[in-house]
Amino acid sequence: MKVTLVGSGYVGLVTGACFAEKGHDIVCVDNDSQKIATLKSGQIPIYEPGLEEMVHRNVAAGRLRFTSSTEEGVEHGQIIFITVPTPPQEDGSVDLSFMEGVARTIAGDMKNYTIIVDKSTVPVKTGEKVAETIRRYNGNKADFDVVSNPEFLREGSAIEDLMNPDRIVVGVMSQRPVPLLRELYAPFGCPQFIVTDINSSELIKHASNSFLALKISYANALAVICETSGANITDVVNGMGFDKRIGRHFLNAGIGYGGSCFPKDIAAFIKIAEQLGYDFQLLKEVQHINRDALEHFLKKLRTELWVLKDKTIGVLGLAFKPNTDDVRNAPAIELIHRIQAEGAHVRAYDPQAMEKAGVILKDVTLCKDAYEAAHGCDALLLATEWDEFRKLDLSRLKSEMIHPLILDGRNLFDPIQMTSLGFTYRSVGQAIHHPK
Ligand code: UDX
Repeated sequence: MKVTLVGSGYVGLVTGACFAEKGHDIVCVDNDSQKIATLKSGQIPIYEPGLEEMVHRNVAAGRLRFTSSTEEGVEHGQIIFITVPTPPQEDGSVDLSFMEGVARTIAGDMKNYTIIVDKSTVPVKTGEKVAETIRRYNGNKADFDVVSNPEFLREGSAIEDLMNPDRIVVGVMSQRPVPLLRELYAPFGCPQFIVTDINSSELIKHASNSFLALKISYANALAVICETSGANITDVVNGMGFDKRIGRHFLNAGIGYGGSCFPKDIAAFIKIAEQLGYDFQLLKEVQHINRDALEHFLKKLRTELWVLKDKTIGVLGLAFKPNTDDVRNAPAIELIHRIQAEGAHVRAYDPQAMEKAGVILKDVTLCKDAYEAAHGCDALLLATEWDEFRKLDLSRLKSEMIHPLILDGRNLFDPIQMTSLGFTYRSVGQAIHHPK
C-alpha cells in the first residue's frame, strides 16, 4: 500500500521503516530539509538498535523514500500518518500547533479520497478538530476520513514493539477506513485489532502511559516501606508480579521515570482531565512520588557523605533508560544538576548518551568508560541500568575510587556480593548489608 508519514522524527522514522519492511511503499516527509538531507545521505539521526540497517535495506529496495515536500507526500499516500511532535506547554497542556499546521497543509494538497491517521500522542477530541480543520481548508476538493492510531513504542525496542505489537488500536468516526487499515496492518499478524470511536482511541494512549507510570510510582512508594521495614522490594514485586492480574512489568523501583513521554503525558492527562472538569488527584500523586524517588536517593547520598561540596562524584548512566541515547527528562541529568548545585565535582559516563548529555551538562568531566568515571571518586551513583555495567570488573572499579561507596539507583547489583567486595552499597528498597 502507498503510505506517507508526515513528520520524520523518532515515531515517523521507525513506523515508516517497519511499514516498508512489511512490503508497503513508504514516503517520509519532514519540513526540516536538513533532516531530510541527512536521511537521504544514509545517516540516521537517532540511536535505535536495528533501525539503521532496516532503513538502508528498504531504501535500497525502493520501498522507502524521504522528501521535504508535503505535496509530494500527499500525492503519494492513500493513507497519510501524522507523526509530528506534540510538546508540552508551560502549564502541562499539549502544544497542538504542529498537528494543526500539518492538517492545514495536507488539506490544501489533497485531491483524492485520503485516510489521515493521527499517530502522535494527543488529547482526547483532537481527531475531531483535525477533521474540522481539513474540511475547512480542503474546500471539498477531496473526500477523507480521520483516524486515531496511537503508537505504543518504547525507545530502544520500538522496532520490536511495532513488528510484534500487543494490540493495534484504531479509533474511527466512520467504518469506511477500517478495511484499508486492516490491510495495512495485516502483515504484522497482530491478534488484537481493536476498533473504537476516535475519542476512546485517543484516551487509550494517555490512559495506558499513565497507568504504567502509576505502576512505577507504586513500586517506588513500596520501596520506601521496604527500606523502613527491612523488607526487599525485588522480592515484594516478584511476589506480586506472578499474579497475572498484576503482572511483573513496570514494577522496578529506582530513581523514577523520565524520558520524552511519561512526564509529558502524565502532565497532559492531568490537564486534559482538569479541562473536562475532573481533578485527577491520583495522577498528581504519581508525579509527586516520582519526584520523591529522586529526593530520597539524594538524601541517602547526603547521609553517607554528609557534605557534597568539593566531593568528587561519579555518575554511571545518563540516558533516561538503557538502550537509548535520549537524555530528555533523564533522572540522571536532574541528579547531576542537583549535586552540582551542592558543590560536588561530577565525572560521568554513558555507553550511548555522551554526545547528547554533553550538550546539556556543564562542568562535568565526561569519561571514556565506567572505570575512568570512578577514578578519584568519593561516591559512585548508578543512574541507568545498562547491561554493560552488569559486566564491570567490580574490584577494578573499587580500586579506582578514593572511597568505595556505591549508590545504586536501579538495583543493578547484588547487595551481598557488593558488600563482600568491600563496597559500602546502598540501593533502593533493599535492606543495608553490613560486612560480617
Ligand atoms: C513509554 C511507553 O512505554 C511507550 O508505550 C510509549 O509509547 C512511550 O512512552 P519510553 O518512554 O520509551 O516508552 O520508555 P519506558 O520503557 O516506558 O520507560 C519510561 C521510564 O520509566 C524510564 O525512565 C524507565 O527507566 C522508567 N521505568 C520503567 C522504571 O523506573 N521502572 C520500571 O519498572 C519501568
